[in-house]
Amino acid sequence: MKKKKIAIFASGTGSNTEQLIKHFKGHPHIQIGLIISSSSKAAVVKLAEENDIPFSVVNKSLLSNNSYMNSLLNLYDIEFIVLAGFIMLIPPFLVKQFDRRMINIHPALLPKYGGRGMFGLAVHQAVISSGDQLSGITIHYVNEMYDQGKTIFQTTCKVDRRDNAEKLSKKVLELEHKYLPEWTEKLVMEMRYF
Ligand code: GRF
Repeated sequence: MKKKKIAIFASGTGSNTEQLIKHFKGHPHIQIGLIISSSSKAAVVKLAEENDIPFSVVNKSLLSNNSYMNSLLNLYDIEFIVLAGFIMLIPPFLVKQFDRRMINIHPALLPKYGGRGMFGLAVHQAVISSGDQLSGITIHYVNEMYDQGKTIFQTTCKVDRRDNAEKLSKKVLELEHKYLPEWTEKLVMEMRYF
């Protein structure tokens, strides 16, 4: 049977992309078919090259161009999208087209600490400043608004009194690296039987 192909959209350091690549290497039913980034300088460029994965840079105007995005995603037979640190807002036509087939990972327990500007250390700093004793991750479907799609999975870690934003981000990243590949696999496998 033909493998299901995933596109990863990533703009940051790419540690989640790296875990996803590792997880699906040699997978019998799922393949990373494309990596899309908002910058040609992103760390994921190297990951794509090293792992022989097609790579494309998409700026804001290309991302919002329906026919461009459709041809790109069709060209690589993409059926599922994972946003792993992608900075741009996803346009409504893509949200619609990939309804229940596009997920995002957020490094905090949504609905708190999400939305525009809530990325990188700012998220962890906000959690620490709030005095919350738990943080964690949220994997959710993507809709037209930042971090507001339906939650699929959350898990927590403790915020210690001595944590700073860097320390907390490391704890949260560990959870991301474990659960994002697992949940991506689960959701794509379920999709096989649609
Ligand atoms: C992660 O913390 C993820 O939750 C958020 O962006 C960050 C990406 O990290 N959406 P990396 O680039 O995968 O290391």
